[in-house]
Amino acid sequence: MNTPVYDFLIQYAERDPVRLHMPGHKGRFGAPALQRATTLDLTEITGADSLFEAEGILAESERNAASLYGTAYTFYSCGGSTLCIQTMLLLMKQQGRAVLAARNVHRAFLNACVLLDLPVQWIYPRESDGILSGTYDLADFEAALQQQTRPACVYVTSPDYLGRMADIAGLAELCHRYHAKLLVDNAHGAHLAFLPWRCHPIQLGADYCCDSAHKMLSGLTGTAYLHVRSDIDVEPERVRDAMAMFGSTSPSYLMLASLDWCNRELASPLFRKQLEEVLDRIQQLKCRFSPRYCFVDGDPMHLTIDAAAGGFHGLELAAYLEQHEVFVEYADAFHVVLLCSAANTDRDFDILEQLLERFSPTPAESGEKYALPRPEKVCGIREAALAPQEIVPIGESSGRICAAVKVPCPPAVPIVLSGERIDARCIAVCEAYGITEISVVQ
Ligand SMILES: Cc1ncc(COP(=O)(O)O)c(C=O)c1O
Repeated sequence: MNTPVYDFLIQYAERDPVRLHMPGHKGRFGAPALQRATTLDLTEITGADSLFEAEGILAESERNAASLYGTAYTFYSCGGSTLCIQTMLLLMKQQGRAVLAARNVHRAFLNACVLLDLPVQWIYPRESDGILSGTYDLADFEAALQQQTRPACVYVTSPDYLGRMADIAGLAELCHRYHAKLLVDNAHGAHLAFLPWRCHPIQLGADYCCDSAHKMLSGLTGTAYLHVRSDIDVEPERVRDAMAMFGSTSPSYLMLASLDWCNRELASPLFRKQLEEVLDRIQQLKCRFSPRYCFVDGDPMHLTIDAAAGGFHGLELAAYLEQHEVFVEYADAFHVVLLCSAANTDRDFDILEQLLERFSPTPAESGEKYALPRPEKVCGIREAALAPQEIVPIGESSGRICAAVKVPCPPAVPIVLSGERIDARCIAVCEAYGITEISVVQ
């Protein structure tokens, strides 16, 4: 697959031109270790196209991505999935749709709702695995859809932070029966389209979804895709305009080139082979260490260990791995999330397996696995988030109205929402996740 953006940057740098345009480093100044990157770091000069009005090399590269993902349109983001979430929700607002969302959202969703003044009807999980993950019932989405007096959209996070996957096919069928749009935060699932079985949200019927290319693929940090399944849903110009509402007018060409290069990787037989090899290694590791370690089901590239079920503290395992130069994606008392990609090597797995073999944990009660609390809602998310506020110790916040979403990042799932009255349960969950202060409405 061709790489028009990457090629353009390389050819421009090789011509050694006189750069009387931005960026100010002119391909010369800057940190020595970033020198090569600096020569490729450009702006919208002739031939470079322009992201929010793309019709040249960027549009061509996005079409390549769309063909790989089987979408009607795929748009590049240099503002991560965060920008894609803002864009999807703005489009929904412009369509006059009500928003129903599974509660374990990332804070990027909440912030977008603040910016857009979007009220949200929350769907809570029937069963929770801590605050990050849970099992949702289609019947709860259907009940919420039935209550709507205007068109709606349903927003879910899948895979969630632990790697659990929602029933996207079931939700898509349900949404379409109610003329609702299905939006998926697939920030952790850009690779799903390339697994041997079809499980990317777009393949399963979602209408819009965002994938962070930097989380599971080789895109530079901050790169993401906004996928649109059908061309009858929205005109591409509208999506670009919506994205331009929030995105910087100077998207990084280094980031765009990394997205462009991803296309080439994803199209190559070598990538599929490497992905399958990693999948095999993960499967072998799980077989070897079950039931000594309990693994959470879901996306196979999330190697999530349920420490609580194994009778030890997740942070102990994470600290032990770090002592041996193995760094994990996320850990708390209950879980340790090891995030793999096609770029992991046999050496990585050899080291991990040796360490898991040698780890002898201190038996520990991990304590209660808290679900997301459901406190009283006092006012809207935006009203609370934009109100005058003060920071108070979490232990003194009972009865106050939560202003800014307070949440450790990662995993960035808000424990209390802006506009909710903080109660004893909220305080207990916040304390369990190490939160010591909270911003409340004055
Ligand atoms: C589930 C989820 N959604 C959205 C985001 C935001 O993605 P990005 O960092 O690409 O903006 C994250 C980031 O961690 C995430 O975990």
